[in-house]
Amino acid sequence: MKIAMGNDHTGYSLKLEIADLARSLGHEIIDVGTHSSVSADYPVFGRLAAEKVLSGECERAILICGTGFGISLAANRMPGIRCANCSDTYTALLSRRHNNANALALGARVVGVELAKMIVEVWLNAEFEGGRHTDRLKMIDEDMQV
Ligand code: RB5
Repeated sequence: MKIAMGNDHTGYSLKLEIADLARSLGHEIIDVGTHSSVSADYPVFGRLAAEKVLSGECERAILICGTGFGISLAANRMPGIRCANCSDTYTALLSRRHNNANALALGARVVGVELAKMIVEVWLNAEFEGGRHTDRLKMIDEDMQV
């Protein structure tokens, strides 16, 4: 599948590793930057990658900043983006099965390279289960009153 990747300076070297892995699994990477370790603002690159998903150019996005949180926050402000910030494989798996996450965020200062690769592989291979989970996602999109 076509995957958009966006990162700030902290995520630059991890992005290269993850892009290599994804390509080796047969995926195509659209890298929206940043393209170096020079300080850069995560909201810019989170949004650029998320826009690729919303426009339909890419099926999913992988976003990387120091914690994964800032860039996931930026992406999740965009209606239609469901970004999971994951530092374990269980959350990554369930974010696809139950939440149909179309973006994955990683914290380059939180997870090591090998764990990050494992998280990405699990996340890329997992499918949404639909059913009751579809209704729950609809509740989020409809701004449900509790
Ligand atoms: C950059 O120093 C850092 O704030 C950023 O990578 C990210 O962790 C923010 O959430």
